[in-house]
Amino acid sequence: MVTALIKNLSRHAGQEVTIQGWVYNLRSSGKIAFLIIRDGSGLMQGVVAKQEVGEALFGEVKKLTQESAVKVTGMVREEPRSVGGYEMQVTAVEIVSIAADYPITHKEHGVDFLAEHRHLWIRTPRQAAVLRIRSEIEHALRNFFYERDFVLADAPIITPAACEGTTNLFEIDYHGEKGYLSQSGQLYSEANAMALGRIYCFGPTFRAEKSKTRRHLLEFWMIEAEMAYFDIDANMQLQEEMIVYVVQRVLVKCQNELKTLDRDVEKLKAITLPFPRISYTDAVDILKQAGEEFTWGEDFGAPHETIISSHFNAPVFVHRYPTKIKAFYMKPDPDNLDVVLGADLLAPEGYGEIIGGGQRIDDLALLEARIAEHKLPKEAFEWYLDLRRFGTVPHSGFGLGLERTVAWLCGLEHIRETIPFPRMLHKMYP
Ligand code: 4AD
Ligand code: MG
Repeated sequence: MVTALIKNLSRHAGQEVTIQGWVYNLRSSGKIAFLIIRDGSGLMQGVVAKQEVGEALFGEVKKLTQESAVKVTGMVREEPRSVGGYEMQVTAVEIVSIAADYPITHKEHGVDFLAEHRHLWIRTPRQAAVLRIRSEIEHALRNFFYERDFVLADAPIITPAACEGTTNLFEIDYHGEKGYLSQSGQLYSEANAMALGRIYCFGPTFRAEKSKTRRHLLEFWMIEAEMAYFDIDANMQLQEEMIVYVVQRVLVKCQNELKTLDRDVEKLKAITLPFPRISYTDAVDILKQAGEEFTWGEDFGAPHETIISSHFNAPVFVHRYPTKIKAFYMKPDPDNLDVVLGADLLAPEGYGEIIGGGQRIDDLALLEARIAEHKLPKEAFEWYLDLRRFGTVPHSGFGLGLERTVAWLCGLEHIRETIPFPRMLHKMYP
């Protein structure tokens, strides 16, 4: 007997296969039962006729509860009216386990209740679709870098120093020494890039965010690239090519999932190269024209990013931010030292900043001065300064927030649905 995945049923039309899954829903009349089965890859309707499976088994099937585990076997046929376009005429049902009263029924539940039951919530078709798209995005990103000869160089999770400011550090006790959970692999990525040329890392990062928003997690995944000999322009070009590559992959590979989510795919299809590039100063003008009270030198909040990105159908790069509001390692623009050669990528449709990146300071004296200005402990950065002592070169890199990218491509309101088990302010369970 062939075991199949529901998402591949079209390959099995006219064949007998077995699906291993769980009962999503059941409707039955005297002689016939319609079993909706989910197997993690999709939903399928199985038609169980009393005449065909016998009275005893039919009686058992009628008693199946939501989320009971079953293996169903039968002939696959095309059925445009059925969920997924195929259904099964069931000839055998093996009941693996009967589920107790399932807390997540087919009626609406409040989001707090669902969050408390996240371990079960991820079984629902919408959530499963999001997680499959997340998986596809991760694969696409890895492929993109692999195809371009980037080396995957993992950065440590436990670090002795801050990368992105000291306000949202998670501190840990490293056997009596102070350590921190990584906010970004960047500093290590710079060392790895000097060793290996072009590298990327992909791992969890941690920020003790103190406010609740739709876009912030306390633990999130970031894919970060770092390239020796790249300037800010080469950096932006790589990013836009990466984004288009990922969007295309999702459009091709996740059609069913995007449909499940009712995602307006035309908006994604419209994303083509090159992406618009505007300076921070241009962006401030856009805000002022929109009637916002905004002073040059402030950082953008989420509403500002939404106004700026609403002028474009594609993601937009905002470059050359004020030096004062950016991280210590950003290289000042030689043509205007008040701004840095950094660029953020803002997603369309109000999804906000999905990438932060830029060109790094490659001059030893300047970097030392910046570390002092930011009141960072120089001892912890000696190794990082070594990169400027021994064969320093212009270099650039960026970090893409995976969950924000998933939220955008899936068209989700809130970041909590983009990761199997979100870590949010005062929420650690389950
Ligand atoms: O802009 P950020 O802070 O940049 C860095 O960490 C750089 N060191 C990256 C680099 O150049 N290698 O963070 C990068 C991205 C943001 O654009 C955003 O998408 C995401 O990480 N991000 C978050 N995502 C979810 N929850 C949070 N609390 C996030 N903070 C940042
Ligand atoms: Mg940023």
